[in-house]
Amino acid sequence: MCGIVGYIGHRDAYPIILNGLQRLEYRGYDSAGIALYDGTDIKLSKTKGKVSDLKSKLENEISTEGTLGIGHTRWATHGVPNDVNSHPHYSNSGDLVIIHNGIIENYESLKKELTKRGYTFKSDTDTEVLINLIEDVKKNDDTKLGKAVQVALNQVVGAYAIAVFDKTKPNEIVVARLGSPLAIGIGEDEFFIASDASPFIEYTKNAIYLEDGEMAIVRRHKDIKVRKIKGDAIVDPYVQELKLNLEQIEKGGYEHFMLKEIYEQPSAILDTFRGRLLSKEAIIKMSGVEDNMKKFLNADRIIIVACGTSWHAGLVAEYIFEDLARIPVEVEYASEFRYRNPVITEKDMVIAISQSGETADTLAAIKLAKSKGAFVFGVCNVVGSSIARETDAGAYTHAGPEIGVASTKAFTTQITVLTLMALRLARAKGTISSSDFRMHLLELEMIPQKVEEALKSDSYVQTIADIYKDSKNFLYLGRGYNFPVALEGALKLKEISYIHAEGYPAAEMKHGPIALIDEQMPVVVIATKKGHYDKVVSNIQEIKARKGKIIGIVTKGDESVKALADFVIEVPETLESLSPLLTTIPLQLLSYYIAVYLGKNVDQPRNLAKSVTVE
Ligand code: M6R
Repeated sequence: MCGIVGYIGHRDAYPIILNGLQRLEYRGYDSAGIALYDGTDIKLSKTKGKVSDLKSKLENEISTEGTLGIGHTRWATHGVPNDVNSHPHYSNSGDLVIIHNGIIENYESLKKELTKRGYTFKSDTDTEVLINLIEDVKKNDDTKLGKAVQVALNQVVGAYAIAVFDKTKPNEIVVARLGSPLAIGIGEDEFFIASDASPFIEYTKNAIYLEDGEMAIVRRHKDIKVRKIKGDAIVDPYVQELKLNLEQIEKGGYEHFMLKEIYEQPSAILDTFRGRLLSKEAIIKMSGVEDNMKKFLNADRIIIVACGTSWHAGLVAEYIFEDLARIPVEVEYASEFRYRNPVITEKDMVIAISQSGETADTLAAIKLAKSKGAFVFGVCNVVGSSIARETDAGAYTHAGPEIGVASTKAFTTQITVLTLMALRLARAKGTISSSDFRMHLLELEMIPQKVEEALKSDSYVQTIADIYKDSKNFLYLGRGYNFPVALEGALKLKEISYIHAEGYPAAEMKHGPIALIDEQMPVVVIATKKGHYDKVVSNIQEIKARKGKIIGIVTKGDESVKALADFVIEVPETLESLSPLLTTIPLQLLSYYIAVYLGKNVDQPRNLAKSVTVE
């Protein structure tokens, strides 16, 4: 869950690394550091805090010269966030320096061994153990850095993306990956290393994504040698052309990435449709589904594995797959699924959902399902991510980079992909009539425009946010398709404003949460016209009778809820199955504005990171 950046070439490494770290701060932001080789020695500066804190400290502390360097932005695993535990870490001799994203699980036993051999450690990190292990191998085997890294990594249990260099051989950086992403940008006589391609997109469009279990020696004025970490196999790397552009990863005039990403949803959903939803011909084209149609149709059930917001998208999919395609669906937290010896057979189809494609629990769940013979289909946003590569087939969401830690457009585009899949399967199975299918396509096609309309509630939502920003608790209620939206609304509020919030199926309220309701409790109720509307209205009556404050999310023109609620936010009318794509919009805005009013760091909330690459 850390971000790593490296550079070797003919330019000044410092601005490239600093800028790159800023772009990777979504991966972790509790401390940061940079090591530069200035032609004679390594200059290193690191600090607790954000990359902006590092910048002020570093520029007063060391010279920023050098055409070779590495940098790190951290999300602490071993050792509290402080200056000493920040990366990069030196080896005991001071010759080697390392940055690391991941966890070395057997670091304690390795540390004991190294301590016996006279090594000392300044930090509490597993990474300092690894760099000294590399140094130990290098010294004892009298070998080059690349070989020493390979031998050391073969003694390591855990996950890593690392970059190491040696000041006595300052013409190369050695990198390796297992379970954490690592991309190498190939420029003109220069190389860039990073956790994803965003730090180097203005310099090159060519990149190699290392596969798990691969390492590379990146040499100045030369080429890149890629090999397997285990064994002697040399790898011929695939050079990929990057589609990302600079504009996509900048804020574009918005105060926060989260707001930008909320507003990008109409175009992101359109991009998700592109080439897939052909309403005139009344067809859905999805090659990943088409190529595996038999497997889908013969599956006994679909098991969806995911975490966080992606899990909520999976819950929406459960309704839509069962409703339209009549396929039984189970939705599992990947973190539970991977450890509970689940019953999986070759007749199960597993769908793994992940924005980042790097979530450790989801990856582990995929590996488990595959080991039991299930076919695994991935729904990911990040192209070329670990999950995209680990799955047997898949469909990208094409949402574009999501940088705000709180997922917004990832959620709606995941639901869009899953809806397209459910409709395609329903058509193939004959569980939907052609007129119903056509109607769904036409309605789906209208969604971007309707999201646009839903976004017009922005200033009204700001007013509501201002009124309720000091509440200590929030309750979110929804039924059917909108129950997962209630969960998602509560998660959004918790993660960026730190207000306690719970999502519940509206009818479950009377089995417990109703006890919480008093005049201090805002209750956000999704009460759109279709889908158990009358029942939800009764739930609203129950809240009102207990003096709860009601914020209703209603279909445009609704009068009944308006008469009961303290506030109503309107969304355009659509099919019940598509309503989550609209009802989620005001909930995203509400959490965003509450967090802004409370002065919270919206894009980088405390204790969180964008992609959770540790268990
Ligand atoms: O990248 P993923 O979709 O696999 O991430 C899963 C969760 O970590 C993620 O959705 C998290 O819950 C978000 N911060 C929610 O906004």
